[in-house]
Amino acid sequence: MRKLIRDTILPYDFIAFQECNNNCIFCFQKNTANTHFTDEADVLERFDILLADIEKKHIGYKEVQIDMTGGELFFRKGLEQMYFTMFDKILELKKKINTPIRCLLGTNLLYEDTALLFNVLEYINKIDPTLLRGIFTSFDFAGRFRTIQKVELHRKNTLKLLDYTGKRKMYLAVVSVLTKEAIHKMMAPDDKLSKRIKEVYDEYYVLSQKYIDVSKE
Ligand SMILES: C[S@@+](CC[C@H](N)C(=O)[O-])C[C@H]1O[C@@H](n2cnc3c(N)ncnc32)[C@H](O)[C@@H]1O
Ligand code: SF4
Repeated sequence: MRKLIRDTILPYDFIAFQECNNNCIFCFQKNTANTHFTDEADVLERFDILLADIEKKHIGYKEVQIDMTGGELFFRKGLEQMYFTMFDKILELKKKINTPIRCLLGTNLLYEDTALLFNVLEYINKIDPTLLRGIFTSFDFAGRFRTIQKVELHRKNTLKLLDYTGKRKMYLAVVSVLTKEAIHKMMAPDDKLSKRIKEVYDEYYVLSQKYIDVSKE
């Protein structure tokens, strides 16, 4: 029997952090004043368990995919060393099991300081660019952007990241979750915020066409 592509990839979800800097109303992560910051040692410990599992289960698969997400991966400053260690370990395991391991990173892009994000991307590109399949960021219609400033911040960072990924072999996906709140928002009369979200959404549609053009080259 023919194998489906998805059956040839061993998939993993790695929730690095439980906390986040935003507070989307639909989110299952609760970000309250009582949210405790996840300890870096704890992240690395859980990551080691995941890598040990990959080593045990990879046989028969063409590829391993790790989706890394949260909470939010990149808003807290100074986590470079933790991510560098994680990607060093992935590279080491990839060589040991002789099977490609590719990662997807999910981020909300709702932070002014993007140094951690770009430092991590630069590091991966330096040690082995194939370790990163791409990045995804969420552009949910409702409940994510409470102010126009947040929409603009997301737009600015998405354009910056699009420029970066467009010049490299990785993709940027802008994803939307069709939540109950989104459906209500789409049907609601136009207020200033919804109007701007719709305008930016149109721009993203155009950008996704650009992505297709870039990938064809
Ligand atoms: C939990 S977030 C973590 C990554 C990052 N903070 C972000 O928002 O993109 C990962 C994805 O889950 C989606 N998500 C969050 N809460 C959800 C829910 N209650 N039901 C379905 N998807 C949800 C988000 O829209 C996002 O695309
Ligand atoms: S940005 Fe992501 S993790 Fe944070 S509250 Fe929103 S959906 Fe949840």
